[in-house]
Amino acid sequence: MVCYGIGAVGSRIARFMLQKEGLQIVGAIDVDKKKVGRDLGDLLEINKKLGVVVSDDLDKVLSKASCDVVVHATSSYLKEVYQQIAPLSKYGVNVISTCEELSYPFLLEPDLAKKLDNLGLKYAMTFLGTGINPGFLMDTLVITLTGACQEIEKITAQRVMNAATRRVPFQKKIGAGLTVDEFKKKMDTKEITGHVGLEQSIGMIAAALRWDLDKITVDTVEPVIAQRQVESDAIKVKKGQVAGLKQTARGVMKGKDAITLDFQAYIGAKDEHDSIVIEGLPPIHQTISPCVHGDHATVAMIVNMIPKVMNAHPGLLTMKDLPVPSAAIEDMRKYLETQ
Ligand SMILES: NC(=O)c1ccc[n+]([C@@H]2O[C@H](COP(=O)([O-])OP(=O)(O)OC[C@H]3O[C@@H](n4cnc5c(N)ncnc54)[C@H](OP(=O)(O)O)[C@@H]3O)[C@@H](O)[C@H]2O)c1
Repeated sequence: MVCYGIGAVGSRIARFMLQKEGLQIVGAIDVDKKKVGRDLGDLLEINKKLGVVVSDDLDKVLSKASCDVVVHATSSYLKEVYQQIAPLSKYGVNVISTCEELSYPFLLEPDLAKKLDNLGLKYAMTFLGTGINPGFLMDTLVITLTGACQEIEKITAQRVMNAATRRVPFQKKIGAGLTVDEFKKKMDTKEITGHVGLEQSIGMIAAALRWDLDKITVDTVEPVIAQRQVESDAIKVKKGQVAGLKQTARGVMKGKDAITLDFQAYIGAKDEHDSIVIEGLPPIHQTISPCVHGDHATVAMIVNMIPKVMNAHPGLLTMKDLPVPSAAIEDMRKYLETQ
């Protein structure tokens, strides 16, 4: 494996991979000057050297390393990520990325999606964008539940999360600790963006159901204002400041809301949950409470998908194209079809 992007999530993925039997990290890529040139073991603070030096030179790493999968965690946006992952294809390595827009890129970035698919087919490798959300809770899990339905009128999924227990870049991304004015300014300048992925999740669900949506609408991101002082280890939010945000997106079909996704993440949120309601035959009401811890689960999703991606056919795939996700608890080599 090669780790590409050793930030908050990439580091956790790397640490988890080091615990797995049948996996070996043979390279590490990052552009952060403070990381380049350092031994990955030092960077991960695991009290041992790994003999893997972080490099900002993708070609140098890939031309030396014998690698099956590059695990990529740098950015949410496919325009940026495309430049990073497209060059990996010529090495014939599979790519699993946390990039939200890669999870279902066919609606917003159809040209880049086509190019990636072509590269995958040409070089016999697979691209997959996944994670916990998008990647699982508001799309793959929803799609799986629809398998028990004869008829479906409407789908609603809601995620309410206390961001106090999440990684600091995430808390910053949702504007925790800002004044309302600062929040609005940073939203305008796109310095903070809120959650990325609701449109992709709706697109993936609709594609699985072969629903021809009229449109996907994304409501304005709203700040959630703290009603009392709330805090995480890193950020203190005073009463009246922004604790986080809420966002809703809708997939509209024949003039009606067919798929509604409601995402709320703020420091101090009570009643954390992930719920899915399918109005249909039979109706399905599923709640996971408290909500799934996104950081741990993202790491798990990425690593658990490694053997499924290695077994998959080439091209750009999404979670709906792959077998039902499952934990790869045993030696990773046991899950490979070629073994
Ligand atoms: N799908 C999901 O469920 C899910 C879940 C969690 C996270 N994510 C996404 O995963 C991404 C990574 O998250 P994070 O919290 O780990 O972010 P992060 O802490 O900012 O780490 C990103 C790392 O990648 C480096 N990087 C940026 N551009 C690069 C490039 N062109 N080549 C090599 N390295 C590069 C960054 O260096 P600099 O700091 O110098 O830029 C940084 O070290 C985010 O976009 C996040 O939204 C998705």
